[in-house]
Amino acid sequence: MQSDEIRKRFLAFFEKRGHKIIPSASLVPENGPSVLFNTAGMQPLVPYLMGQKHPSGNRLVNVQKCVRTQDIDEVGDNTHDTFFEMMGNWSLGDYFKEDAIKWSFEFLTSKEEGLGLDKNRLYVTVFEGDENSPKDTEAFEIWKNFVSEDRIYFMSAKSNWWSVGDNGPCGPDTEMFYDVTEKGLGDLTKEQYMEADNKQQVVEIWNDVFMQYLKKDGKIVGRLPTQNVDTGSGLERVVMAVQGKDNIFDTDLFTPIMGKISEFTTSSNDRAKRIVADHIRTSVFIMADGVIPSGSGRGYILRRLLRRAIRFSDVLGFKPGSLFWLAE
Ligand code: GLY
Repeated sequence: MQSDEIRKRFLAFFEKRGHKIIPSASLVPENGPSVLFNTAGMQPLVPYLMGQKHPSGNRLVNVQKCVRTQDIDEVGDNTHDTFFEMMGNWSLGDYFKEDAIKWSFEFLTSKEEGLGLDKNRLYVTVFEGDENSPKDTEAFEIWKNFVSEDRIYFMSAKSNWWSVGDNGPCGPDTEMFYDVTEKGLGDLTKEQYMEADNKQQVVEIWNDVFMQYLKKDGKIVGRLPTQNVDTGSGLERVVMAVQGKDNIFDTDLFTPIMGKISEFTTSSNDRAKRIVADHIRTSVFIMADGVIPSGSGRGYILRRLLRRAIRFSDVLGFKPGSLFWLAE
């Protein structure tokens, strides 16, 4: 299944379940300069998660362009990229854990309407509880209807609490991981699962955040007016799982640009090739949303990406002017 089909299926699946399809917002946030780029599907929706009425209703779905550069040094491994598309569905004070979890599972595993992923390769984490929010036994009980109990792990806020920075809506989440090894890892203890995660043998492909709390200056200060669901599923990683690859650069989202790069170099330095592919792709999307290279803010991020792409294309022995051809 190609990436285009995956996007279409995601939107159609949730549209059928009462969600309104909304377009991706620009990479450049509209609501002030608190972040340089949209880093998650929920970011343009923050006012609505905080209680404002959305003109399209209280069930929304989209595929949002995102840029995250905090892990820029990790790009070149199997799963990190600086530009990605996030598939997401939202309940603004409408359905909650039961439907969110059921639909996540159905979309991932249904052959007819979803992705037909192998349920025996799925692992799930849920929030173990802390002073801010109780242990999420509710999510655990719901998940037990779909995956075996010993594949559901309780995890701390470090991994299973989601917020955008120190201010705004947040909450505990449940996360879905997929085994991308060739033979399959089978049942794992919590320690084995954590080790597999470190080795990128299992990758996170989706999270459902149960957004009910408000954070101010890094502290939870109360509840939101409504209980919301905010889900996020990284398209690149999902495509990797569906296409049976162990890295995002071998999926149809990247093979055209990786193929072009191979025309310009005989080097076997895969890391450098991946960095060039990622950084040019991100630069193109940033420029398409109106940013030009400069010495500060967004323009500086773009300049840095281009500079790194040039540096690594030098490592690969590209002739000057070659990067131009990758933009297309
Ligand atoms: N659903 C929150 C995120 O992954 O960005």
